[in-house]
Amino acid sequence: MARATQAIINLHALRENYQLAKTSAANSRAYAVIKANAYGHGVLQVANALSGMADGFAVTCVEEAVELRQGGILLPVLVLEGAMDEQECQIALDLDLELVVHQRQQVAWLKDKTGSLRIWIKVDSGMHRLGFAGAEVPAVASDLRNLGCVSQVQLMSHFACADEEGHAFNDYQIQQMQILAPMKLPWSMSNSAAILSLPQAHGDLIRPGIMLFGSSPLQGRDASDLQLSHVMTLQSNVIALHTIGAGESVGYGQTFVATQDTTIAVVAIGYGDGYPRSAKPGTPVVIAGQKCPLVGRVSMDMITVDVSQCQVKLGDSATLWGMGLSVDEVAKFCDTISYELFCQLTQRVKFQYLGR
Ligand SMILES: Cc1ncc(COP(=O)(O)O)c(C=O)c1O
Repeated sequence: MARATQAIINLHALRENYQLAKTSAANSRAYAVIKANAYGHGVLQVANALSGMADGFAVTCVEEAVELRQGGILLPVLVLEGAMDEQECQIALDLDLELVVHQRQQVAWLKDKTGSLRIWIKVDSGMHRLGFAGAEVPAVASDLRNLGCVSQVQLMSHFACADEEGHAFNDYQIQQMQILAPMKLPWSMSNSAAILSLPQAHGDLIRPGIMLFGSSPLQGRDASDLQLSHVMTLQSNVIALHTIGAGESVGYGQTFVATQDTTIAVVAIGYGDGYPRSAKPGTPVVIAGQKCPLVGRVSMDMITVDVSQCQVKLGDSATLWGMGLSVDEVAKFCDTISYELFCQLTQRVKFQYLGR
C-alpha cells in the first residue's frame, strides 16, 4: 500500500462556507480569495467548485489569474497586488482581469492602452503596506478616468486588525474610508474577519478568504461556533508501534524521555509534507478517534505520538487537522495561524476531492 499521507478536501463544505459569507453580507457581492493555490487547497478544484455560485475570485498576481483563465474560469478575477509591469497590464486587458492600482507607476503603465479595465484603487487606510493616502485618491481616480482603457474606478482597502473584535484601529480604518464616501464610488474592505464582525464595512464587495476553508478568522472564536465547516482533513496512518520504558527517549535530540512505560505510534507525516517542525510537545493528533499528544521532534517524514491512553493498531488512520480536530487548535500549538499550515503543505501530500 502507498504512503497514506493525504489531504481530503470537502468541496461541499467549501460551498457552504462561501454561502455563509454571502448571507453575512447580503447586499454585497463576494469574490472568493483563492490566492496561493487557494490557501493550499488546489486552486482550480476550488475555483471550479465555486464557479456556479461565486461572484468572482481574487488572487495575488497576474500569473495566478492567468492560471485561472487557462483553467477555463470565466468569472471576474481581481488581482490584489495589481500589475508588476506594463506587459501584465496588457495581459489583464486581454484576459478581462480586474486590477488593483496601489502606486503611480501602475497608472503610467496603462497610459497608451485601449480596452475596458475595471480598476480598484487601493486606499491606505492605516495599514501602511500598499495603497494611496486618502488625500491622493481623488487625483488618482481622475487620472485613471482620463485613460482610454479604464471602464470603472472603485476603491478598496484592507484591515490590519480585523481579527481582533472591538479593536479601535478597525473603527479608525473605516472612518478613513468614509472620508472618501463623497466620491460615490463602489468600495471593498472586508476580509473574512470583517465579514463576520464589522457589518458597517461590508461595502459593495466582500473578499472572504480563510473562512471559505473553514478556519476561524476571529481570535478567540471557534470555527464551529461561527457555523464554519472544515474543508481540509490532513491524514496519514500509523506505520510503527512500540513501547519504551522509563528513561528511554524518542527521536532526534532525545527531547522526549519517558517517565514510565509509554506506547509510541509513529505516523507517516513530517515537515517534508508540510507538517510544521515547530509543533510543540502535546500538539494533538487524533488516532483511533482519540486526541493523543505529539512527543519528540517532528522529523522530515515522521512524527511520534504517545498513544499509551488508547487502543491503537498498526495502520490506524491519524488526523493531523480537519475532521474531529480544529486546524486553529493545532496552529496554536505551532505558534502560527491556520493560513500558514494550509499554505505550507508540500507536493508529497496527495489531494483527494469530495463533493465535486
Ligand atoms: C487584500 C486582501 N483581501 C482579502 C483577503 C482575505 O483575507 P482572509 O483570508 O483573512 O479572509 C486577503 C488575504 O490576506 C487580502 O490580502
